[in-house]
Amino acid sequence: MPRTIAVFGAGYIGLVTAACLAELGHTVVVRDIQPERVQRLQAGEVPIFEPGLAEMIARNTERLSFTLDAATALAAAEVAYVCVDTPPTVSGDADLSRVWSVVDSLRGAPALLAVVVKSTVPVGTGRRIRTVLNESGLEHVAYASNPEFTAEGRAVADFMTPDRIVIGGSDQDVIRLVADLHHGINAPIEVMDVASAEMTKLAANAALMTRISFINEIAALCELTGADVELVSKAIGLDHRIGAHFLQAGIGWGGSCFPKDSEALKQLASNTGYHPQLLNAAIEVNNLQKRRAIQTLKQALGSLEGTEIALLGMTFKPSTDDMRESPSTVLAARLLAEGARVRCWDPLAPQELPEPWSQTTRHPRALDALDGADAVILATAWPELRELPWHEAHDLMRRPVMFDGRNLLDPAKMRALGFTYMSVGRP
Ligand code: UDX
Repeated sequence: MPRTIAVFGAGYIGLVTAACLAELGHTVVVRDIQPERVQRLQAGEVPIFEPGLAEMIARNTERLSFTLDAATALAAAEVAYVCVDTPPTVSGDADLSRVWSVVDSLRGAPALLAVVVKSTVPVGTGRRIRTVLNESGLEHVAYASNPEFTAEGRAVADFMTPDRIVIGGSDQDVIRLVADLHHGINAPIEVMDVASAEMTKLAANAALMTRISFINEIAALCELTGADVELVSKAIGLDHRIGAHFLQAGIGWGGSCFPKDSEALKQLASNTGYHPQLLNAAIEVNNLQKRRAIQTLKQALGSLEGTEIALLGMTFKPSTDDMRESPSTVLAARLLAEGARVRCWDPLAPQELPEPWSQTTRHPRALDALDGADAVILATAWPELRELPWHEAHDLMRRPVMFDGRNLLDPAKMRALGFTYMSVGRP
C-alpha cells in the first residue's frame, strides 16, 4: 500500500531513495537544510549527477516534493527515512550530529509509524536512537535499519534491482512495513536485528575494500616478480569461490563511503578494545597505493621539480562527478609538493574544488592538458581515455611518459606508439 514518506537529506542517497520510493508509488517529501539545494530541487533542477535520476525525479513530480522545513515534511509522514551523511569527526568516528538533529525534529510528528535509518552508522546507533525516541514521547513509533549498498554512478539501478534488501528491526510489524515500501522490487529480503543490519553495511564495505587492497598487494608482488596482475586477477576471479568483482588493480579506492566507513569501522573496533588487523592492513595498502604512483613516475623522470604533469581523470571513479576522497587529490597534492606543475582534465568533476586543486590548471580537452607535458597519469577509468588519439598525444607531449593508474590501456600498443608506459602490476 502506498505510504507517505519523509526523506531527510537530499544528497546522493536521500535523493535516490526519494526518487525510487516515489517511482514505486509512495508520496515523498524530501527535507534538506541547505536552502540553495532545496530551491534548485523545487525549481526542477537536480543538483547531483546520477544516471537516470533526473528523469526519474521529473516523471514523479506529482508524488515528490522538497522542503527546508521538517514539520512540513512530517505533516503527513508515516515513515521518516534518515539519509543524512555521517562524515568522520577529528577522531575518525562517524559524526552522528546530523542524524541526531533529524531524530530531534521528529518530536510531535502526528502520523509517524516508523523511523528508518539508511545513513551508515556505527553498530549500536539504532539502540541509542530507540532510547531517544522513547524519551521524546515517540514510544509508539517503530525503528528499523535499512542500509543501502548502492554504488555511485549506478545508484538508481542498484536501488531498483538490488542484490538484496537488508531490514533490521525488533518486531515483525516494522519489518513488514519496510518490506512493503519496496513492493515492486524483486530481491531477497534479509531480515535481522538492528545491530546486525548496521554491521552488515560496514562489513560489506570492508569486504569490498579488502578485495581491492588484496589485488593491489598482489599487483605490487607482480611488479617485483614479473607476473601480470590482469592475467592473475582474471584467472582467480573465475574460481566461483572467489568471484570476479572488485579485483581490478589500480591506484586504490576513494569515494564518499569506503574511506570514511573503513575509518569508522576501525574506530568502532578500537572503541570496543579490538585491534582490527586485517582492516588496518587494507587501509594501509590503499594509502600507500596512491603514493606508489608518484614513486613510479619519479623512477622514469627523476626529480619532478619543474615538470609539467597531465593528470587525466579526477573523480574517484567514472560515471560520477564526485570528488570526495578521490585518489587523484592525493596525486595532485603530491605532484605539487614535488615541485611539478599539474594540468588536469575530467569530463564531470566540478569546476570549484577545494585545495590543492586551485594550484592546478584545468583543461576542457584531454589533448590540451597533454600538450607539452613531461608525463601523463591516468587516474580515473573514464572510457574517453581509451578512445583518445594517443598517437597524437605522443607527438604533443614533451616526453611521452605514462603512468596508467587504472590499467586502462594496452601496454604493447602504448609502447609501440613510443610511450614509456607504466601501469599497476603489469610487466
Ligand atoms: C561503495 C560500495 O560499492 C557501495 O556498496 C556502498 O554503498 C558505498 O561504497 P562507491 O563508493 O560508489 O560504492 O564506489 P565503488 O564502485 O564501490 O568504487 C569504490 C572505489 O574503489 C573507487 O575509487 C574505485 O575506483 C575503486 N575500485 C573498485 C578499485 O580500485 N578496484 C575495483 O576492483 C573496484
